[in-house]
Amino acid sequence: MSAEEQTTTGVLGWFDKRFPATKVWNEHLAQYYAPKNFNFWYFFGSLAILVLVIQILTGLWLAMSYKPSAAEAYASVEYIMRDVEWGWLIRYVHSTGASAFFIIIYLHMFRALMYGSYRKPRELLWIIGVVIYLAMMATAFFGYLLPWGQMSYWGAQVIVNLFAAVPGIGEDLSTWVRGDYVISDVTLNRFYAFHFVVPFILAGLVFVHIVALHAVGSNNPDGIEIKDGPKGNRWSPNAPADGIPFHPYYTVKDIVGTVVFLALFFAVVFFAPTGGGIFMEAPNFQPANPMVTPVHIAPVWYFTPFYAMLRAIPPMWDSQFPGVVVMFAAILIMFALPWLDRSPVKSVRYKGIVTKVALAVFAVSFIVLAYLGLQPASPLSTLLAQIFTALYFAFFLLMPIYSKLDKVKPVPERVTE
Ligand code: HEM
Repeated sequence: MSAEEQTTTGVLGWFDKRFPATKVWNEHLAQYYAPKNFNFWYFFGSLAILVLVIQILTGLWLAMSYKPSAAEAYASVEYIMRDVEWGWLIRYVHSTGASAFFIIIYLHMFRALMYGSYRKPRELLWIIGVVIYLAMMATAFFGYLLPWGQMSYWGAQVIVNLFAAVPGIGEDLSTWVRGDYVISDVTLNRFYAFHFVVPFILAGLVFVHIVALHAVGSNNPDGIEIKDGPKGNRWSPNAPADGIPFHPYYTVKDIVGTVVFLALFFAVVFFAPTGGGIFMEAPNFQPANPMVTPVHIAPVWYFTPFYAMLRAIPPMWDSQFPGVVVMFAAILIMFALPWLDRSPVKSVRYKGIVTKVALAVFAVSFIVLAYLGLQPASPLSTLLAQIFTALYFAFFLLMPIYSKLDKVKPVPERVTE
């Protein structure tokens, strides 16, 4: 009897007749065949799930003592830090978790760029990923207002004011988003409501992301479809020869990634929870004051590449609208990626030098823009931001040309490691 036909008995058998427990376990873990050549870059999907769970749990516990009102929010966070048992730990895990989440997701997305994981047949998987990324940014933005510190307040003020740049309806739109003429108690209440609910939508999106992944199967560092290759391995004659069961092979591998990640993560939580003023910014240790604008307002680091682009585009007819368009376009262009890449091969390993350089320049541009967005604007930083914004967009817009013309190496028939 092959593994696929096995029937269960006893308590599990009782469940299996009523709920597809063993079927799901087998289809998605024990008999789900993933490419055998996953490397370091394949840790970040499971780590992202881990951090999402950490954020939801610590968030829930923070919510037990947090007060979402302009009068009480700041003090309630101080209360969590000083009086709630282990409150400081819950808060630092949550605040560090937000930055860790974005570090992980940026590495996860970069992996997809390297190995062409966004290409056919994984276009939808990638698109769901970009929607997840948008939902993550929304969640982080709403969450940052909650401690009601100076940067919370003024950061939200700057970002919501961007809606005012939309021609015609802008002023009404930004008032509608805030629920007031300035960021106020009303805004805090609605941001709290959204900050609480969007993570659950995120969890739903992650589920859909995995369903889409399992429908097509994982890509791998060689960018080869193992399903199209030879059949038969030591577990099943029908499984791809280059596939190994996700469980126990990758569950064990992911445990290694998890342990290393948690060691690094808690080193930051315990020894540097502010991340040198980058994970938690100094002005946010002062209560929000609508009468005093901080000298330098910048969003948290994971938004700063886009913030730098916004500042790089000069206002036109006294309107910031062109900058706002560029900033949103920088994210939305990601949706088009599967159709911009015309290379005959998927993985960077077999792509030509032009594509390799383009990818490296793109990564450097993103990091430089993140840095520039953290700094106060100066003529030099604006010029640099303009150059790197152009390079960022060139990566996408010129891709149909360079990916087609670039010389590629022959792709091996079987995975190489
Ligand atoms: C909460 C956020 C996310 C979670 C929990 C998550 C989870 C996962 C997991 C568990 C995998 C399989 C393991 C792996 O390949 O590492 C995966 C694969 C993938 N994810 Fe995500 N993901 C998230 C966000 C994103 C985003 C933002 C994108 C892109 C914009 C994305 C694109 C992809 C792609 C293309 C794959 C297939 C990679 C391959 O097979 O080479 N994901 N994701």
